[in-house]
Amino acid sequence: MNDLFQSQTTESGPVECLGQTFPSDQARREHYLKLLAEKLKDPEFRKIEGFPIGTDEDILALSDPPYYTACPNPFIEDFIEQYGKPYDPAVPYSKEPFAADVSEGKNDPIYNAHSYHTKVPHKAIMRYILHYTQPGDVVFDGFCGTGMTGVAAQLCGDRATVQSLGYRVEADGTILAQEEEDGKPVWKPFSKLGARRAILNDLSPAATFIAYNYNTPVDVHAFEQEAKRILAEVEAECGWMYETLHSDGKTKGRINYTIWSDVFTCPQCAGEVVFWNVAVDKEAGQVRDDFPCPHCSADLTKRSLERAWITKFDSSIQQTVKQAKQVPVIINYRIGKSRFEKRVDNNDINLIDKLENTNIKDWFPANIMMNGGETKRNDPIGITHIHHFYTRRNLIVLSKFREKIFNNINKQINPGLGLWFTSSHVWATRLNRLLASNYFKGGGGVIGQTLQGTLYISSIAIETNCIERFSLRISSVPFTAYGGAFTISTCSASQTIPLESSADYIFVDPPFGANIMYSELNSLWEAWLKVSTNVKVEAVENKSQGKTLDDYRYLMSACFKKAFRILKPGRWMTVEFSNTRAAVWNGIQTSLQEAGFVVANVAVLEKSHKGYRAVTTTTAVKQDLVISAYKPNFGLEDRFTQTGGGEESAWDFVRTHLKYLPTVRMKQGELDYIAERDPRILFDRMVAWFVRHNCPVPMSSQEFQAGLTQRFTERDGMVFLPEQAGEYDKKRQQTAQAPQMELFVCDEHSAIDWLTDFLKKRPSTYQEIHPEFISQLGAGWKKHEARPELMALLEDNFIEFDGNGDVPSQIHSYLSSNFKDLRGLEKNDPRLTAKAKDRWYVPDPNKAQDLEKKREKALLKDFETYRAFTGRRLKEFRLEVLRAGFKTAWANKDFSTIISVAQKIPEDALQEDEKLLLWYDQALTYAGHSL
Ligand SMILES: C[S@@+](CC[C@H](N)C(=O)[O-])C[C@H]1O[C@@H](n2cnc3c(N)ncnc32)[C@H](O)[C@@H]1O
Repeated sequence: MNDLFQSQTTESGPVECLGQTFPSDQARREHYLKLLAEKLKDPEFRKIEGFPIGTDEDILALSDPPYYTACPNPFIEDFIEQYGKPYDPAVPYSKEPFAADVSEGKNDPIYNAHSYHTKVPHKAIMRYILHYTQPGDVVFDGFCGTGMTGVAAQLCGDRATVQSLGYRVEADGTILAQEEEDGKPVWKPFSKLGARRAILNDLSPAATFIAYNYNTPVDVHAFEQEAKRILAEVEAECGWMYETLHSDGKTKGRINYTIWSDVFTCPQCAGEVVFWNVAVDKEAGQVRDDFPCPHCSADLTKRSLERAWITKFDSSIQQTVKQAKQVPVIINYRIGKSRFEKRVDNNDINLIDKLENTNIKDWFPANIMMNGGETKRNDPIGITHIHHFYTRRNLIVLSKFREKIFNNINKQINPGLGLWFTSSHVWATRLNRLLASNYFKGGGGVIGQTLQGTLYISSIAIETNCIERFSLRISSVPFTAYGGAFTISTCSASQTIPLESSADYIFVDPPFGANIMYSELNSLWEAWLKVSTNVKVEAVENKSQGKTLDDYRYLMSACFKKAFRILKPGRWMTVEFSNTRAAVWNGIQTSLQEAGFVVANVAVLEKSHKGYRAVTTTTAVKQDLVISAYKPNFGLEDRFTQTGGGEESAWDFVRTHLKYLPTVRMKQGELDYIAERDPRILFDRMVAWFVRHNCPVPMSSQEFQAGLTQRFTERDGMVFLPEQAGEYDKKRQQTAQAPQMELFVCDEHSAIDWLTDFLKKRPSTYQEIHPEFISQLGAGWKKHEARPELMALLEDNFIEFDGNGDVPSQIHSYLSSNFKDLRGLEKNDPRLTAKAKDRWYVPDPNKAQDLEKKREKALLKDFETYRAFTGRRLKEFRLEVLRAGFKTAWANKDFSTIISVAQKIPEDALQEDEKLLLWYDQALTYAGHSL
């Protein structure tokens, strides 16, 4: 690790940074802080999208330029110049899309050094980086959160970590992975040991501050010494605040935690009801739903109770506040190694009262909670400001820790201290709750941290011993990256990086719709750090921010467009997508395509096998997805611009796209069907490509299918380039079974696909098809989609042999290979004709095109009725009609029709349909949608 950036931990002696030598690291820091301070005075700089909210002074206090700035990083360009390799089209690069378990490595001490609302473990990301890049390559993550991508990039240079992933590392640094060949495991070289450089970005200053500390090597010894010194000082000043008297009346115990309970009033007798006292059933080990009033014995439920309130003067905000009453009820404490529990007594109450009236000497944040569903969720109980999220005792102690730690941060003693503060903070808030069943029945932890994704304060909350929590975290914190080049910026991902084609690979795990409101959840941290997220461009769907799913998609598009620019042509981006609605997942796909990326694979984790399976449907998605998309190369864009996009461009696209797709994929010893090679999916990709270039799609689906057959090689229903087909054939000879496309019937379109596959294999009569078809129309059918009649589908898309003339070859070959007595008969043999009569079959390409045209005409006629519909909402409709109508309207640049019809269909139906969304999104773009 002779990286220049390693010098950043050196406290004295000359250091090199971005090609310059400084007498000491302190001198380097001062030099860059001065430059940053000047930059901060530039009003244009402050106008950058997503510029955080904070004073120059506070931004500078957090920053450690050029590695980290708590604002847009003006030194990224220098970083790229120093470390990046300019894009050279002559350098060959070819990788297949890759998917691996994104949850691997959650037990790792580095992963656990700091929590976040969602986090991809660095070990999982390492597999991706090793697959796609070489040592020294530049990796970018625009939504970096805690900076795991940076940690992963650095640890690709660490032999032991790479080996811990199950790889072999040769003496010369070659990394080998185990693969299966002819049923036997073999080790194959696939990457090289060596750190990669990381460019990280996030909108949230809390996230980038954590990311900076995570990516900076911690001098463990120095950190521990300093942390212990601070701890001892806080202990000396505040340790008494966590003392309690033992049952013997004289021994002092040390509080581990205090349980606080809500207090209510009985609606019958107005007596005070302490929730803990009445609702907790210790014997049963649970919190009861109903209970008698301790005063008047009335039957009560939590819902029937009214809250008890306290009114007090809050000197920090110079206001009288009215808050829901919570009282301490139980204290868990220790004496030596023994743990005890007691009810809160008068001494404890006196101590709490005393602290309540103590002035807090150190600074703490007392700002009003920002606007938001989570941040304002506690307003009704009077928790309206940041400092209300802490008991007075923990507020005193936390502010003391902050004072001592931040003085040190400013002096740059050890970034581990920063990690120490933010990672311990979660234990200090009133969001900690009692895990009732563990508490009563034993086993597991008793304290549950914040309910994920919320700022929920429980009726039974836990106040931890803040000093103890900081003490416990000393040993967990110093697990960071070991050293490597990185740079971190704080702004919107739609803004980072000035240089085009500078990154070799992108890994992102962006926010997914309305799943988690990062800015709201980070607001507590950020209040302590004094620099906050600028929510205007936060890529979320959020009512309080006035952002719809369309806005979310629009913001994601802007971010992906920037990512597209940053990435070198021919290189890959991995988007990890967590568990959410199909509508959001569609939004991501659409915005990816709009940015110019071509999706080459979407894989879903199969929990049972810990492996990934390709998915093509958007409705069946409930788990983590990995999207592999690339920035096209091989001159495709240039040729498209030159020719203006005609029919030839479509084939050019397919030819180029096929190069990026895996040729052979094995799954549990069997050949896997590569869905992306399916003609129907290739068609969708081609359409998206044309739409993104604002060019009319040059052919219909049937023309496309017919053209594919002429130009490419088809194997087992998949399309290959001729040179790829050879490789596929080799593997195919060794396996008995042809791979099968998994089809999921959920609407008219997929029902036709299913029928096509079915009739291709087995031309059948209506009576034969009917039961099989019905069994496909199960629970997955789309909510508003009209259910089609089988006969109508058959008549519109297939042909029935009426028994006249020669038996069509599709039926002939089926019958002669499946019925011994029909083998070798002439096409007009009466025995064959009799068996073939009334069978439906898939038409040949010419006939199929005729049918398609006829069908399209009928669809457009129906679309006219949708357009003319004057009611508010169409309740049931055919997606195929809408798709055909939108496509035609788009080609005619009739965006208003798309938008007005879109408004007549339910939001979820629109957002969940990939094809409709494609047209709708474009219509919005061209109609000038903006936030
Ligand atoms: C799922 S988290 C990333 C977590 C990260 N992978 C980790 O392991 O810690 C998504 C992040 O996107 C950030 N974010 C939201 N909108 C953004 C935008 N417009 N530009 C950049 N970051 C944004 C949020 O602050 C959040 O940290």
